[in-house]
Amino acid sequence: MSPKFRVALTDYNFPNLDIENEVLAKEGAELIAKNCKTEDELIEHIKDADGIIDQFFPITRRAISYLNKCKVIAVYGIGTNQIDVTAASEKRILVVNVPDYCIDEVATHAVALLLDCARKVTRYNQLVKGGTWAYMGLKLHRFCGKTVGIVGMGAIGKLVAKKLSGFDVKLIGYDPYVDSETMSSIGVRKMEIGELFIESDFITLHLPLTEQTRNLISTKLLGAMKPTAYLINVSRGGIIDETSLLQLLNGNRIAGAALDVLAKEPPEDRCPITSHPKTVVTPHIAWYSDESYKELRFKVAQSVADVLNGRTPRSIVNKNIIKGS
Ligand SMILES: NC(=O)c1ccc[n+]([C@@H]2O[C@H](COP(=O)([O-])OP(=O)(O)OC[C@H]3O[C@@H](n4cnc5c(N)ncnc54)[C@H](O)[C@@H]3O)[C@@H](O)[C@H]2O)c1
Repeated sequence: MSPKFRVALTDYNFPNLDIENEVLAKEGAELIAKNCKTEDELIEHIKDADGIIDQFFPITRRAISYLNKCKVIAVYGIGTNQIDVTAASEKRILVVNVPDYCIDEVATHAVALLLDCARKVTRYNQLVKGGTWAYMGLKLHRFCGKTVGIVGMGAIGKLVAKKLSGFDVKLIGYDPYVDSETMSSIGVRKMEIGELFIESDFITLHLPLTEQTRNLISTKLLGAMKPTAYLINVSRGGIIDETSLLQLLNGNRIAGAALDVLAKEPPEDRCPITSHPKTVVTPHIAWYSDESYKELRFKVAQSVADVLNGRTPRSIVNKNIIKGS
């Protein structure tokens, strides 16, 4: 029997698509996969699709204007910043994400990067591998009693607070949409962002990239940090103004930064941020574990199949387009 639906996959970096194919085939849908390189190629690929699955490729207003019968755009992951959600909503196309496949992984990765700043595990490892066996040369400070600032107190920010609660550190948080009672119930004192940057010894970012948050962390906030403080980012690269960050690192105005995400990924060769001696960088893998990887792929395919077959998917980004909501 020929499939009822055609689902276009715009780009992917998985070795195969077994999980997606299995889920969609059971639901009467065929997956047509491509790694699109240009917007025109994307438009040709998606224009007659019933559903779209996207990994990183930008789905612009122009691309959306060509869609003839698409009901759903699903993204591999939490952040939907590469999709023009407003344009999709105007065409009554649901945008769905997978908000809960890697909360534990990302929170644990933020804590791992933070502890690496505190204990310099990766720097000492480099020294030992280079033949140096000594404690001097790098300066460490006692971790307990320090202040950790959490910017963005959603699912991941809250779990970071929980994971750090055993370390005897002071937790402060900034999130305009989370009240002080909710924060204090998990041991976090709510503050304004400017104050948080002044007070913190470690600052960890867990907010989405939006037009309001792009380059939010720039000279004004970075310049307010203690010269001994560290910045950790596992959210999105575009939230930090990297030119300002480099100036502050070069001027010894902050102690260092640990980053899982960059404004441009993958970075250019000889990127001044990745090669800087005061940074620790991982290649956008905070989300990754064998378990989260399988869960992500299963859930994204299932969400598309749900919409195509008239069921409510697990997580809708533009709920406002559903009648009665
Ligand atoms: N590195 C990775 O592999 C990886 C994986 C998953 C998610 N992420 C990123 O982590 C982000 C957070 O994920 P989550 O599951 O906690 O999302 P979430 O929606 O549960 O929480 C985000 C929080 O940020 C807050 N927020 C919004 N604007 C803000 C602002 N201007 N200042 C401070 N806070 C603000 C929101 O109120 C919300 O509480 C995602 O948007 C995504 O970009 C990265």
